[in-house]
Amino acid sequence: MIRTDSIETLRRTLAQWHAEGACIAFVPTMGNLHAGHLRLVETARTQADRTVASIFVNPLQFGPDEDFARYPRTPEADCAALEDAGADVAFLPSVETMYPRPLVTLTRVSVPVLGDMLEGAHRPGHFDGVTTVVARLFNLVQPHVAVFGEKDYQQLAVIRRMVADLGWPIAVVGVPTVRESDGLAMSSRNRHLTATQRALAPLLAQTLNDVADQLRAGERDFETLERAAEYVLRTEGFHTDYVSIRRPDLQPAAAGDAHLVILAAVRLGVTRLIDNLRISL
Ligand code: PAJ
Repeated sequence: MIRTDSIETLRRTLAQWHAEGACIAFVPTMGNLHAGHLRLVETARTQADRTVASIFVNPLQFGPDEDFARYPRTPEADCAALEDAGADVAFLPSVETMYPRPLVTLTRVSVPVLGDMLEGAHRPGHFDGVTTVVARLFNLVQPHVAVFGEKDYQQLAVIRRMVADLGWPIAVVGVPTVRESDGLAMSSRNRHLTATQRALAPLLAQTLNDVADQLRAGERDFETLERAAEYVLRTEGFHTDYVSIRRPDLQPAAAGDAHLVILAAVRLGVTRLIDNLRISL
């Protein structure tokens, strides 16, 4: 595996593979890799001849009061894991390499409306930071395939929209959420949970499953289901940002819909957790 922080080295390696006609898959990450990230790399390898992974904690997608500074950074362990998973390149640029000019002066890529609801409403500017960095990474790597987790459901939808709107010839592949044995969605942020919070955390996935059961049983008062789920979570000690039942394209759900996604964002102390569940009725 080639490990580099240099755009020049990345470009040289990729130019050769592009010239050979290789199909190139790309897995962008912020590092502190867990089995969910590695599943993306495994999926990428089944789709392409060469797999590039990036590790970059992107300051643009963190709000001023968010956890950019204490986001876990474990590059040595991450590169070992990427190599074991069969990645061909690990690209770990510095902030200066990715953004040579002051952040406030940067060209941005933005997906309005879709990027402003749910996560976007609670984290203003978050998705502009995501789409801006992913656009820059896509231009550097020029992948044929890009792999993202369904864990970040709205992020996947926003990336798909960006790729469609900008006309990039990139196939965006979504990978189902990888979970701990107790149902908690794997996340780099889980390591910030105290033992008590960690014991409580699986209730998030469980609550989504309970909402799904009620939908399967024929309940269609979405508003009441959402408020009841938030009440349960709050009673147990979560701060709830939202529980929302939507169509797969994130538009408001209607009673006759056969396909739905239940999305939630909560906080346990200073740690923010998101999860979602897709169901077909
Ligand atoms: P990060 O949170 O590191 O996640 C990188 C990729 O791993 C994303 O596509 C995410 O959806 C996926 N992922 C995370 N946890 C997962 C799980 N439990 N199961 C399956 N996939 C999972 O998402 C980002 O970084 C950033 O926003 C990024 C796209 C890299 C842009 O900076």
